[in-house]
Amino acid sequence: MESRYSLFFSNFYSKKVLQSGLWLVWLCGFFLIGVSFYGTQMLPTFLREQIKIRKPAVSGVGFDDLSFPKITLFAAPRPFSGSVGERQALAVRSWLGLSENINVVLFSQDPSVFSFVDSFGSRVSVETEIDFTFLGTPFYHSMVARALASPSDISALIDPDTILLSNFISTLICAYKLDEDWLIVASSGNVSHFPFRLDSDGKSWLADDGKHVQIQKQLQEVLVRQGSQKPCGDRMLIAWNRGDLPLHKGVLPPFLYGKGLHNHWIVTEALISDFRLVIDASLTISSFYVDDLDQENYALIRSSITSDFEKRSWELNGNSLLGRLYGSFSFRDANYSNLFRFFECGGNFHFLNTHQNIAYLLGYNRPLNLRIKGISLSSTQKEILDCVDVIKSLEGIEGCFAKEQMRLPTSISLPLSLESLLSMRADQNKTIALGVAGHSYKDMLMSWVCRLRHLQVLNFLVCALDDEIYDFSVLQGLPVIKCAYPPTNISFDNCHFGTECFQKVTKVKSRMVLQILKLGYNVLLSDVDVYWFKNPLAYLSSFGPAVLVAQSDEYNVTAPINLPRRLNSGFYYAHSDSITIAALEKVVKHAAKSNLSEQPSFYDTLCGEGGSYRLGDDRCLEPETNLVVHFLNRDFFPNGAYQGLWEEKDIKKACKKRGCLVLHNNWISGRRKKLERQVLSGLWEYDINNRMCLQSWHKTNVTSYF
Ligand SMILES: *[C@@H]1O[C@H](CO)[C@@H](O)[C@H](O)[C@H]1NC(C)=O
Ligand SMILES: *[C@@H]1O[C@H](CO)[C@@H](O)[C@H](O)[C@H]1NC(C)=O
Ligand SMILES: *[C@@H]1O[C@H](CO)[C@@H](O)[C@H](O)[C@H]1NC(C)=O
Ligand SMILES: *[C@@H]1O[C@H](CO)[C@@H](O)[C@H](O)[C@H]1NC(C)=O
Ligand SMILES: *[C@@H]1O[C@H](CO)[C@@H](O)[C@H](O)[C@H]1NC(C)=O
Ligand SMILES: *[C@@H]1O[C@H](CO)[C@@H](O)[C@H](O)[C@H]1NC(C)=O
Ligand SMILES: *[C@@H]1O[C@H](CO)[C@@H](O)[C@H](O)[C@H]1NC(C)=O
Repeated sequence: MESRYSLFFSNFYSKKVLQSGLWLVWLCGFFLIGVSFYGTQMLPTFLREQIKIRKPAVSGVGFDDLSFPKITLFAAPRPFSGSVGERQALAVRSWLGLSENINVVLFSQDPSVFSFVDSFGSRVSVETEIDFTFLGTPFYHSMVARALASPSDISALIDPDTILLSNFISTLICAYKLDEDWLIVASSGNVSHFPFRLDSDGKSWLADDGKHVQIQKQLQEVLVRQGSQKPCGDRMLIAWNRGDLPLHKGVLPPFLYGKGLHNHWIVTEALISDFRLVIDASLTISSFYVDDLDQENYALIRSSITSDFEKRSWELNGNSLLGRLYGSFSFRDANYSNLFRFFECGGNFHFLNTHQNIAYLLGYNRPLNLRIKGISLSSTQKEILDCVDVIKSLEGIEGCFAKEQMRLPTSISLPLSLESLLSMRADQNKTIALGVAGHSYKDMLMSWVCRLRHLQVLNFLVCALDDEIYDFSVLQGLPVIKCAYPPTNISFDNCHFGTECFQKVTKVKSRMVLQILKLGYNVLLSDVDVYWFKNPLAYLSSFGPAVLVAQSDEYNVTAPINLPRRLNSGFYYAHSDSITIAALEKVVKHAAKSNLSEQPSFYDTLCGEGGSYRLGDDRCLEPETNLVVHFLNRDFFPNGAYQGLWEEKDIKKACKKRGCLVLHNNWISGRRKKLERQVLSGLWEYDINNRMCLQSWHKTNVTSYF
């Protein structure tokens, strides 16, 4: 076993060598001078001839301009508390101590992360503008997209408790000099006990007795003593240079971060796509985390008490399902013949392609065919062959991937009932915003959700009309339930006003609202084609009990807004009280018998047929239950036909002038037209192609949707 550790962390010193990362940097450049180094056998034609190093901009000046790339490390930490917090803090400090050129971006919404970051100045920041599930798990595809948008020379995604040592920098600096675009992956080792701490300068490591230690050497001893090795865990570091080439073909599925599979997926896709040089740098980057079993067990026990464990049981399955749906590769038979292993031998960096049995010596014109044996070898060649023999005995990431368990779930579901979702999601006034959607409205649903998140309205819930939208919503991290009594056997594609589908669907909505009211929660029902400019809840709840507050569908600017059948049942607020419940029960009963949509049932039941229960120009009083219906002022809650707002050139501006809180994208026929109108107006918050919310760092060309 010993040979493993010596190579993992220690080639630097075990081969009469170096302590300093900078020395290696220089050597990496030195080989540019490039002696020709011919292998004696013909190589297969598909192999690359060499791995080139960039020329310095001005010859003779050296690499100073290239040597110190700006590096940004991206990580999604857990809250900074207890031992988890301490481990993360140590890790972040270890990164910052490596170089002034390293900045850190932490993905989180947790207040503890903000206060942690405060003490570091501008080098560490918190990024909240990525997608999270409703349980707070960040989305990996959104993290990657954010990192790709970074102007840094090199971006890396790292686990928040992974400690880095200085060979991380020397490896990246060497890779930075390659005349290629690359993707580096390095697996992280673990230790159960790490008796060192960072000095206050954040750079040097101290032992318990306060003495400085040579950490790389000490770490190796710790690892040997603990019988640990670089494991095939799911902890990996992924880094890439900014470059011109994408990391891989196609679109990264919405994987959940830290729930398995995403590292495997991205590396395999990068290998298949063959845009970038894919490098396994596990041997040259000392990255490891402290894996204190007692603490882990404690966390597990605590989480099972809060049933957190149960709530999250679907997350792993979600990633497996995505891997199955979007894997253009077979996990077992993935072809790693394009994978290069970065290794260090005699103080220089080289590449090894295990599959082809070929080593690339940086700066040389030809690769070294490792099948040649014999007397004609130079001493450098012999030294490399010796190194390679050791490396081959060590498992690389491909071995790890082969071991990755591949579950193949066919469906997933949230293990959360309506009651538990309501209690988790409702705000302090016990109010929930309910969105209802079928699969053909999935993009509209997501835009609605992204908008609500943007407004920090988190007390929403989605009710899914069919199985497809349910699965989609679960995978997008939404709090979702299947609607009670969903309509069956209908085509949703053209489910717009006036169709049979529309009639059936709308009736599901009122039944769902009634069910939630009976559980003691107030409901704001909002169709997903209602764009929210501001959070209307404070205003809507101000009407108090026994008042149903609804949008008016009246288009005539001068007409009263409570005329017959002008109640829009696509946006209304219902307070949970006995009067409202009794009135809504009447509506549901009426709708069940009607051959129309539920909208006329609302009006005819609550305002009387022909408007016989109207009060003034904007209210009705249902005489049996005493429920008041209040129609909302159209300047604040305009429908899609009011004052031609949708025809305005700058709708945002026009609405702002009026003081709109929401705008309904109704009074338009056909799903496609509706979608197009909303996307092109800019009242759109979702990147359909990449399946993530639009953020300030991320703009897409929306015309490519049509
Ligand atoms: C390191 O991780 C592996 C795999 O996750 C585990 O089996 C092993 O017990 C861990 N070792 C230590 C020292 O924590
Ligand atoms: C793997 O890829 C290489 C190069 O693209 C190809 O020549 C080889 O046949 C592939 N091997 C398998 C097992 O698919
Ligand atoms: C479903 O719809 C099809 C065509 O619209 C129809 O022929 C069939 O009878 C319907 N099935 C049920 C159970 O309603
Ligand atoms: C909660 O209810 C109180 C009292 O009715 C109200 O002032 C407040 O605005 C409500 N909050 C929200 C978010 O609706
Ligand atoms: C709008 O309403 C006013 C007053 O109720 C009425 O005089 C007018 O004819 C209506 N206009 C249209 C286009 O319906
Ligand atoms: C709906 O029912 C009404 C009577 O309740 C009837 O007059 C009308 O023709 C029916 N419409 C359709 C489309 O079936
Ligand atoms: C956006 O995409 C459309 C269609 O794909 C293309 O014609 C147009 O030039 C693009 N616009 C920009 C600004 O890239």
